[in-house]
Amino acid sequence: MNRRLGILLSGRGSNFQAIADSIDAGRLNAAIGCVISNRPEAPGLAIAQQRKLHAVSIPSRGLDRESYDRLLLEELRKHDIGLVCLAGYMRLLSSAFIRAYPLRILNIHPSLLPAFPGLDAQHQALVHGVKFTGCTVHFVDEDLDSGPIIQQAVVPVEDDDTVETLSARVLKEEHRIYSEAIGTVLEGRYRIEGRRVLNNRARMTKI
Ligand code: GRF
Repeated sequence: MNRRLGILLSGRGSNFQAIADSIDAGRLNAAIGCVISNRPEAPGLAIAQQRKLHAVSIPSRGLDRESYDRLLLEELRKHDIGLVCLAGYMRLLSSAFIRAYPLRILNIHPSLLPAFPGLDAQHQALVHGVKFTGCTVHFVDEDLDSGPIIQQAVVPVEDDDTVETLSARVLKEEHRIYSEAIGTVLEGRYRIEGRRVLNNRARMTKI
């Protein structure tokens, strides 16, 4: 599979940096083909520029979803992107975009999906009172935070946690599992049965 990643982000960009670090350290065999932000002021975009990656801002203000996503697709195709990685990208994607990259768009979410989809997942976890939360890397489908789950990590919730302390503990795991999940997909080490993303090795040991 084409190992050129297209990163879409809207903010801080720490997950993008963790992916770039994994590539630089040789833990992930991939290349970042482009980094696109819908917000020109996103710190992640400046970091991508500092790292001498191809980084562009495509402002979304005033454009409807379909028109905006056509611009995104154009940019991704220009850079021959094989896998799209959402890394704190704060916009919903159109159906046309999702169909253009079937099983080739990943997202990371800071909860154990299907618990706490949407915004402020760590806050939702604290308010609900769960004892464990975590993070999820999943394929993107047409619904919010709902596609097949590739990898998750569990994080305990401590009695004295605030949104900040809990988010920091979850983020550390996000940085680890996103690169691992990208590797799984790029290497084709999975198969899908219904909603389940299974390790391909399991099939081999059953035979
Ligand atoms: C992360 O918590 C990620 O799970 C969520 O948005 C946040 C982005 O953080 N989708 P960063 O921009 O990668 O630092």
